[in-house]
Amino acid sequence: MSRNLRGLSARRGLKEGLYEEVVRTAGAGHTSRDEGLTSLADDFMTGKAAALGVSSFYDFLGDDHFGKKVFVCDGTACLTSGRQADLKRKLLEEYTGDEIGTMTCLGHCHSNNAFMVNGEIRVAGTAHNATSLQISSNADKPALLAPEGAINAYYSLAGDYISDTGSALKELELSGLRGRGGAGFPFHVKVRSSRDAEAGQKYIVCNADEGDPGAFSDKWLLEERPHSVLFGMLMTGLITGADTGVVYIRGEYPLAVRKLRDAAIQLEMAGITDSGPGLPSFPFRFHVVEGSGAYICGEETSLLNSLEGLRPEVRTRPPFPAVYGLFGKPTVLSNVETFANIHYILKEGGAVYAALGTEKSPGTKLVSLDGAFNRPGLLEVRMGTPLRQVIDDMGGGTRYPVKALQIGGPLGGLVPASKIDDLTLDFESFSREGFLLGHAGIVSVPDTFPVIRLLEHLFEFTKKESCGKCFPCRLGAARGHEILKGAANHGKKIDRQLFDDLLETMQLGSLCALGGGLPLPVRNALQYFSGELEGYFTTKKA
Ligand SMILES: Cc1cc2nc3c(=O)[nH]c(=O)nc-3n(C[C@H](O)[C@H](O)[C@H](O)COP(=O)(O)O)c2cc1C
Ligand code: SF4
Repeated sequence: MSRNLRGLSARRGLKEGLYEEVVRTAGAGHTSRDEGLTSLADDFMTGKAAALGVSSFYDFLGDDHFGKKVFVCDGTACLTSGRQADLKRKLLEEYTGDEIGTMTCLGHCHSNNAFMVNGEIRVAGTAHNATSLQISSNADKPALLAPEGAINAYYSLAGDYISDTGSALKELELSGLRGRGGAGFPFHVKVRSSRDAEAGQKYIVCNADEGDPGAFSDKWLLEERPHSVLFGMLMTGLITGADTGVVYIRGEYPLAVRKLRDAAIQLEMAGITDSGPGLPSFPFRFHVVEGSGAYICGEETSLLNSLEGLRPEVRTRPPFPAVYGLFGKPTVLSNVETFANIHYILKEGGAVYAALGTEKSPGTKLVSLDGAFNRPGLLEVRMGTPLRQVIDDMGGGTRYPVKALQIGGPLGGLVPASKIDDLTLDFESFSREGFLLGHAGIVSVPDTFPVIRLLEHLFEFTKKESCGKCFPCRLGAARGHEILKGAANHGKKIDRQLFDDLLETMQLGSLCALGGGLPLPVRNALQYFSGELEGYFTTKKA
């Protein structure tokens, strides 16, 4: 069924893409929506149910969203900082309760005080200023935070590789670059698979859906280093033979959408992505597509379905996107930070990049620090740096006592303060100790914040964001939330055996890492905060 719909959507491609048409139609408001979607379904021959199924998936296209004028960030860092209630009180001076909605997350975890109004993000009543966050690195020559040069210099470097893309791939191999979107998969492996795949059309897709509350590093790169991201995509296109790049940016980052669109136009105007009079020119088209409020669209196959105008449920894999990606064509789909590293790798050499990190985690990693830190903001950290150094030396320590750090978003680990000295910032150290580096956003959990409340929040988040395709996640997250809500707010006791069974079912039975990954931080909490949580359970583990 989805292959048929994919085929129908592919006929129009990206230019008049079904997804963007659905967003335009449904986003116009509920009076004209149903009629508009029916005619769209006729036009694309997909059937009305398919069009409605897509539009009803996204937060921004729901009736609830239309009634709101202002959206308060309710990401994890805003929750644990305890500042949401004050912000809502302040906004109530100007708006009615019905006009205030929420969004998760606006990527201002360094300020913990953000809201969106008229498509602009503001912080506690002041105009949003993206440069107010602090940036620093412990690499002598940072790969990501260094200022961007003139675009001509970027693309004269691309010109050096155009007749020998095999050398560019070799440098990527030497660099050992691993995907920065969470899983750490070797980048060059998917580039090679896509290069080797025989197809008339190939794509490059940049995953800029950065949905993990606590992470704002991709947002910063998109806003402040857009040409690094586009360069990485274009070079990957040259290596694989793709002539089209899509940047899928979450709708909660409106400034990033504008900056990327401007940067892509700049390349066209300079004749770099066109056959104009510019420097070396590369026939490559960029499309910047804005998400509509669905965390699961960060999962790569859901993102592809979203771009195709299908309901963004997760696809089973294999086949993997490198061979069967956008519209079923070979596609290198990678994270913003992954692409942004490519300029440094090709300029300085893969070996130089690799030496910035450890043998198995080469290079550097961007780390987002929330507002609890004395120096909140963005760090570029050499892989292998002791976590203590990151927290205390680079981040300046926290302003108040913190009992745990949630690292790597809702599916990352919950690192208790007592484990900080056992960890170095790299993939291996985190997995060895039972955590997950993920995208490395750090959210502080103050001593005063109840762990049961954090668990309730994690299950509530998963319940809301589950794509619904597999029942262990769809039902498990809802049941888990019910259980924790009862315990946290109504004095109900949790049966430990039942709870452990629920975690096991979710971990083993879920199709993707949303349902399958949630048990990790929950088990971290059960292990390291057993004293605090004990009173919420009836029976001990068998
Ligand atoms: C629930 C879920 C959410 C995800 N969200 C993101 C995201 O926001 N950004 C991202 O790059 N990867 C995200 N991923 C990982 C992607 O599926 C994919 O592995 C990644 O984009 C590949 O890029 P990389 O190899 O450069 O890491 C998510 C995965 C899951 C399971
Ligand atoms: S684990 Fe959740 S989000 Fe992932 S496929 Fe299953 S229902 Fe969808």
